[in-house]
Amino acid sequence: MNNTENKNEKNGIDTKSITLAQSASYNKLKKNNSEWVAKRVKEDPEFFTKLAQGQSPEVLWIGCSDSRVPANEVTGTQPGEVFVHRNIANVCVHSDMNMLSVLDYAVNVLKVKHVIVAGHYGCGGVAAALSNKQFGIIDNWLRHIKDVYRLHANELDRITDDKAKVNRLVELNVTEQVYNLCKTSIIQNAWMNRTDLEVHGWVIDISSGLIKDLGVSSSNSHNLGYVYEFDNVEATAAH
Ligand code: CO
Repeated sequence: MNNTENKNEKNGIDTKSITLAQSASYNKLKKNNSEWVAKRVKEDPEFFTKLAQGQSPEVLWIGCSDSRVPANEVTGTQPGEVFVHRNIANVCVHSDMNMLSVLDYAVNVLKVKHVIVAGHYGCGGVAAALSNKQFGIIDNWLRHIKDVYRLHANELDRITDDKAKVNRLVELNVTEQVYNLCKTSIIQNAWMNRTDLEVHGWVIDISSGLIKDLGVSSSNSHNLGYVYEFDNVEATAAH
């Protein structure tokens, strides 16, 4: 290709980028979408009409961004059933406005009954956090997981197999993020007014597809410890 062929004479758009946009993997998405819509409508002609009327999911899923752990597929749920937030290594930081906004909306507007932190074995973010390599800006995010390692260093340092060590930190990270959610005033305020809200910790085993419930489900703030368990949070927040 020479320069004349590469450039669109009218608007100067590089045709190379157009070629990229027409790549097979990209076009496949549009084709799949048409097929998905056709299949859904065939199964239920009212599917999208009903979906467009609103959502009332009972579950908030906070998972890893990893492409292998999609919330709906893993749990066999349909559009409208799971409210989703995902980030690298499913971290819940109390200063993350994105996570807090999702949590607040899910708990106080949608009134979800279950908040699930879902990690997965072999998590690249957790593995990276266990190393001392620099990966760039993500190092700031992974610091939160390095702190989880520090909290549990006694246990983790006894594990000699690298893979097993990462996977145990995956479990401990999920557990810590469950606690982090429970420490938020959003969850604690909700617990003062409702008895039907639980926070859970899961790990997905990608090699089998199965979920492991870590047994750290919480439905009240009694085990958080004195400084974390807010006293009459709503009244305090009002001042
Ligand atoms: Co991951």
